[in-house]
Amino acid sequence: MSAPKSDRTGDLGPSIRPRRLRQSAAMRRLAGETDLRPRHLVLPLFVREGATDAQPIASMPGVEQHSLDSLPAIAVRAAEAGLGGVMLFGVPAVRDAIGSGATDPDGILNVAARALAAEVGDALVVQTDLCLDEFTDHGHCGVLDARGRVDNDATLERYADMAVAQAQAGAQVLGLSGMMDGQTAVARAALDEAGFADVALLAYSAKYASAFYGPFRDAVESQLEGDRRTYQLDPGNGREGVREALLDLDEGADIVMVKPALAYLDVLRQVADVSTVPVWAYMVSGEYAMIAAAAQNGWIDGDRAQLEALTSIRRAGADAVLSYAALDLAEKGLIS
Ligand code: PBG
Repeated sequence: MSAPKSDRTGDLGPSIRPRRLRQSAAMRRLAGETDLRPRHLVLPLFVREGATDAQPIASMPGVEQHSLDSLPAIAVRAAEAGLGGVMLFGVPAVRDAIGSGATDPDGILNVAARALAAEVGDALVVQTDLCLDEFTDHGHCGVLDARGRVDNDATLERYADMAVAQAQAGAQVLGLSGMMDGQTAVARAALDEAGFADVALLAYSAKYASAFYGPFRDAVESQLEGDRRTYQLDPGNGREGVREALLDLDEGADIVMVKPALAYLDVLRQVADVSTVPVWAYMVSGEYAMIAAAAQNGWIDGDRAQLEALTSIRRAGADAVLSYAALDLAEKGLIS
């Protein structure tokens, strides 16, 4: 690549004019670098055990916590809108120290996955969150040892059972979001052993200890006190995020992810540059809510801001993006 020639001066003005490619909608469309289509988006969905109907989530305007009854309809809408998939999160009625509901075939997440796999499994990819935090009474992503610390290897045994339970329920991609060391290898081995070689693993490889998960913790009624800094990544560590992605590739991840998205676009770019599998990003609850709240105040155009944010995530290297705005944008015809 050669540097642009020094510009002509005088009556003719500049000879090099990047605006030529911006002068009409047709030209801009042809010159566009980044595509954002419904198939690139995955819609996260919350389902609450024992709920009779959908309830709004105060800190996530436009997002609802679903009941088992209200869930299929929104999944059908997601399929009709052409979205790539849905990611299910369960909110159990009862929690305990080991997160028993996560491995119970009648636990809310497994029941919901079974229902959606039957309802929309051919039209979009049904995915489940593979993590214990929604199911434990202490709110951590794993089980605790006698001193109250998250016990990595004891948690892996729970994840192995959870992987098999979710596969049995019909989930096609399992989202490993717990940040335990070795979780991808353990889940892969458990699935293969149980005859689920076709079930894919989405490794939340570079998942940061982020303040942007706040509204999500409302959505799942999290019991967490304290933080997740002994297992989630420090926000300042980019190289470590790449290392986690490389480890997950070695362990057999089918997809690797960076999360949150907007505050970590540099990490996303670095992971995309080295990954040999698809790279996804999660535009998380707080990132969604900031835009939604500002839009509610009339301070920004919410639709345009969501589109711009998602486009930037695609531009930074994400093949697909988890977004709470996915269905709304597709149903409004803003992406097609
Ligand atoms: C863990 C999990 C979390 C999110 C997705 N999976 C919460 C956490 O790590 O505290 C957050 C997603 C969001 O904020 O939108 N099961």
